[in-house]
Amino acid sequence: MLSKYKIDDRLRMTVLTGAGISAESGIKTFRDNNGLWENYPLEEVATPGAFQKDPELVWKFYKSRYYQLHKVEPNPGHLALMKLEKRYPDNFTLITQNVDGLHLKAGNTKVLEMHGSLHRCFCLKCRQKYAMNEIDLNPLVPVCPVCRGELRPDVVWFGELPNFLPEISEILERTDFFLVAGTSGVVYPAAQFLPVVRSYGAVTVGVDIKAPENYLFLDEFHQGKTGDLLPRLINEWLE
Ligand code: APR
Repeated sequence: MLSKYKIDDRLRMTVLTGAGISAESGIKTFRDNNGLWENYPLEEVATPGAFQKDPELVWKFYKSRYYQLHKVEPNPGHLALMKLEKRYPDNFTLITQNVDGLHLKAGNTKVLEMHGSLHRCFCLKCRQKYAMNEIDLNPLVPVCPVCRGELRPDVVWFGELPNFLPEISEILERTDFFLVAGTSGVVYPAAQFLPVVRSYGAVTVGVDIKAPENYLFLDEFHQGKTGDLLPRLINEWLE
């Protein structure tokens, strides 16, 4: 047995994922060796000020990340979480910091993409949202097909408020079982979710190749790859 915990249909489960869960799909994480922020300093591509200063560079960064998504698929870690939601559809929420859309592609439906999505952009003038695939991405800074305003990626940058915070706050209060996978636990507010659910009395389980920064708040920690450990843990919990 990997885990000392059991789950059943009375438990309300919340999962928080980060870049680590998509690593085995071939998407770079942010802070590991050779991570995204090593090659592109985040201040230059992931803040509102960066976009004001150099929208072409910011778009170049996000276009290349968006194009990469056409070549990647969910891995066994994503698929295991889909299985968990399928078994407990009414008690399950997945909060992700990832913007790659791979949880949705894997078939999860109860997904809160708190940092937005690489698959969308919006107009800074009329605020209309668009799917990336309906926009002409050839211009260095793509423009709104309706009002010709500047478009920006619909991702949450440093210094901006994440999406769904009121819903997330309610969900955390009701969580009995919290699973956190593949996130370094250094970016707030997501890094706070683990201590918060723990203080409400939830059981907390973590999976990562190395202990996250907020490791102290985990009741059980499984060290290893999410693509290997999540399927094994979830199969065990679903037995
Ligand atoms: N299996 C499990 N964990 C892994 C794997 C793997 N195959 N590969 C990497 N990891 C772990 C790392 O050990 C680390 O804890 O994934 C985590 C990745 O951490 P970060 O790169 O910091 O990514 P994340 O925690 O998702 O970052 C949070 O910060 O840069 C912003 O907005 C960005 O959403 C992002 C947020």
